[in-house]
Amino acid sequence: MSLPVLLLRTLLAFALLVMLACTGTRHDDAVLYRELGGQSGITAIVDGFLYELAEDTDVLPLFANTDIDRFREKFIEQLCDVSGGPCEYSGDNMRETHRDMQVTRAQFNSVVEDLIRAMERRDVPVGAQNRLLKRLAAMYGDIVYR
Ligand code: HEM
Repeated sequence: MSLPVLLLRTLLAFALLVMLACTGTRHDDAVLYRELGGQSGITAIVDGFLYELAEDTDVLPLFANTDIDRFREKFIEQLCDVSGGPCEYSGDNMRETHRDMQVTRAQFNSVVEDLIRAMERRDVPVGAQNRLLKRLAAMYGDIVYR
């Protein structure tokens, strides 16, 4: 095989790999957003989460001065964004928002459990729950006090 042909084939193979990598990521992302039920599913999950939070005495006091309508709106937007939906999170930075709250690991876990209960009630498949939780777990270092 001549050198130009070999180079062309290598280039084409590389372009194909890049295309596959891009479509693969997008596909996975869209799947998670859909598995959560799209915009209406995520809205229902967050509303269920707020009911759970209202019963959660470990963390509720921290929300005493919070504008819950804003929190609801930003949390819906964030879940849509991290699950690959057509939203861009426009809320405050996670580290800044939680910095002065001195959130403990137990409180973080408690909030995650509230979210799991809300997803269970919506019959979100366990695989999708885990994928979402993994993406939220990436924020652990910004939220928990150390
Ligand atoms: C996966 C974990 C968490 C995520 C994804 C998350 C996400 C968010 C988001 C999106 C906001 C709204 C930011 C804005 O207003 O622009 C927020 C605010 C807030 N978060 Fe979290 N959070 C998490 C964990 C926690 C934990 C564990 C606590 C407390 C125990 C907590 C307490 C709060 C409070 C009190 C606010 C409202 C702050 C205010 O009033 O301005 N969060 N969080």
